[in-house]
Amino acid sequence: MALPRTISVIGAGQMGIGIALVASLRARIPKVLLYDQNPAQITKGLEFMDKLLAKDVSKGRISEEDAKATRERIISINSSSAKDEYDWARELGERGTEMVIEAASERVSIKEGIFRALARNLSNDAVLASNTSSISITKLAGAAVDGLGKNVSRASEEGKSCAGRVVGVHFFNPVPVMKLCEVIPGLQTSEATLERAKAFAAACGKEVTTSKDVPGFVSNALLMPFLNEAIMCLESGTATRDDIDKTLRLGMGHPMGPLQLADFIGLDTCLAIQETLYEGTRDSKYRPSILLGRMVDAGWLGKKSGKGFYDY
Ligand code: CAA
Repeated sequence: MALPRTISVIGAGQMGIGIALVASLRARIPKVLLYDQNPAQITKGLEFMDKLLAKDVSKGRISEEDAKATRERIISINSSSAKDEYDWARELGERGTEMVIEAASERVSIKEGIFRALARNLSNDAVLASNTSSISITKLAGAAVDGLGKNVSRASEEGKSCAGRVVGVHFFNPVPVMKLCEVIPGLQTSEATLERAKAFAAACGKEVTTSKDVPGFVSNALLMPFLNEAIMCLESGTATRDDIDKTLRLGMGHPMGPLQLADFIGLDTCLAIQETLYEGTRDSKYRPSILLGRMVDAGWLGKKSGKGFYDY
């Protein structure tokens, strides 16, 4: 299947930067547009990417020319001259985006706003993919259709065709290292969109699995209750932080203990996913621990903020 010639990655956080990198380095997409509402985030992310590429060169995994070409294929989109809130979407459309991978914060309202803007501004055959960890793809498809304007209903042919182009493409952190991508069709995702999403993920060097559009999909419906139980063990004093993590690392062979992994993912992200699971299922087994909520209230968001269950 033909790969897109131009993709756009929205969000230059740890996931967006990793996706842009594998799209350029592995899939060799000729143009990878990278947009973040905060230009400083793009600068920081690209500096990190340069370090990863320099390490690949120093270890002899890629040539210097390859590293240079990888970076040249990535074009940052500057929002400083934006005329309105969604001017960036117009620019992504004008530059010929054929597939978008949205990797913004794990908040429904933020993602819905982005999908409305994308549907309004991108060509009517672009794939609109989200790297969401838990939010309903069908819900994001609904927002995309709403973005087309009041005269397009979700049930009309135009509405169905737009919703058919929305799909979940869920990578794992660190994207360059983790070998999986979970692809999620929403209720209305077309077969062609699903195949284009799978082909893109495979070209990025990933094994691909498919999950139904349920809260958390397969990955986080399994991972988040596990992390939450570990936090509850700490909260109830069952064991110390170090002993909880050591149990899973040395007893079960996990590369990281669950408290370290929660820090690594980001405690705000873990809480947002757990809230989506809890609200989406109304099942008490997904209730986020009180301690997790308090830590997020305190601004202790894990590795990215310098403090979580561990200090960084
Ligand atoms: N970006 C890119 N590469 C990275 C990286 C990052 N952020 N962090 C580490 N790496 C690379 C290192 O550069 C190193 O590469 P080389 O072998 O080429 O030198 C390699 O990974 C191993 O790193 P380290 O030697 O520093 O440390 P490690 O052996 O402990 O591995 C780890 C680090 C790969 C992160 C490992 O601890 C691990 O696999 N942890 C579990 C990660 C995990 O479960 N991720 C999924 C989280 S859930 C998610 O993402 C989805 C969601 O919806 C919440």
